[in-house]
Amino acid sequence: MTLPRVVVSRAVLPGTGTERLAEHVDLVRPTHQNRPEPAELQRLAEGATALLCLGNDTVDEALLDAAGDTLQAVSLASMGLDGVDTAAAGQRGVVVTNTPGVLAETTADLAFALILLARRRLVSASDSLRAGDWQLFRMADYLGLDVHGATLGLIGYGQIGRAVARRASGFGMRIIHHDAYATNSDELSTAVDFEPLLRTADIVSLHIPLTPETQHLIGADQLALMRPTATLINTSRGGVVDEDALLAALADGTIHSAGLDVFETEPLGQRASKFAGADRLVTLPHIGSATEATRAAMVDLAVDNILDVVLGNPARTPIAGGPAVPKQRSLS
Ligand code: DGY
Repeated sequence: MTLPRVVVSRAVLPGTGTERLAEHVDLVRPTHQNRPEPAELQRLAEGATALLCLGNDTVDEALLDAAGDTLQAVSLASMGLDGVDTAAAGQRGVVVTNTPGVLAETTADLAFALILLARRRLVSASDSLRAGDWQLFRMADYLGLDVHGATLGLIGYGQIGRAVARRASGFGMRIIHHDAYATNSDELSTAVDFEPLLRTADIVSLHIPLTPETQHLIGADQLALMRPTATLINTSRGGVVDEDALLAALADGTIHSAGLDVFETEPLGQRASKFAGADRLVTLPHIGSATEATRAAMVDLAVDNILDVVLGNPARTPIAGGPAVPKQRSLS
């Protein structure tokens, strides 16, 4: 019996999911540790039944065409799907799946860490100590702003936004949110409009996908509405924030501080130097979901979705509005 060809876009992934997958399919993956170039991924994809990709892979028409008519599923080991041309996949009847339900708590932990790091200026305080600058205790040194009792404004109130709200409630924070799909207040958070949230919140934390509508949702005009004591946190997608406008707002005191786990172009490499002068900005290398357990669970769920489809079952976590069964199977 010929096993279905399944391409995994990286040589190594956390956990044991890919080994489990290899028991059922002809598993193909790059032989090197880097992210494959589009041409390499397209070559590997030829004749594939399924692709297991990461959130930063580009799944476009060229890749879907390279895979051809055999392709039934693109399974993402990520929640974000901004790298996928979902319309093109839909036209071809290809199931696209992502990983809801497994990374919200871990990502919320990191968002909260960024809130504390940025508002209390902990990274620059630690750097100062290590540089030998801490020579004298002075009351006015290393001052930050309180987190407890502050008003947290969540833009996006889905799984991750709500998990951040639960943490904030333990810090005695007032919580407000703006989300086109969660327009009601609940026991944790009060629903408000977008601009009032920006004007009111001490901390604005972003938990929305990157779409044409959310590209640069936070730019110079929105930063200008925020309080001079406000902190901006982004653990969603870099493109939601205009980085140049943010750097300008930090430099001229329009806002107090910021914490970024995501960037307009990733990975940053040498471009990280662009942020070097911003001492009220905390930067992390897109590690919101990066714990051993959660990254393994993401891979496991991506594998389960592929096994569902290749074994003839509906995928368990198709993207919202997308099919759970590939077109060629539903027609047969
Ligand atoms: C996600 O799941 O989208 C995270 O950003 C990791 O890619």
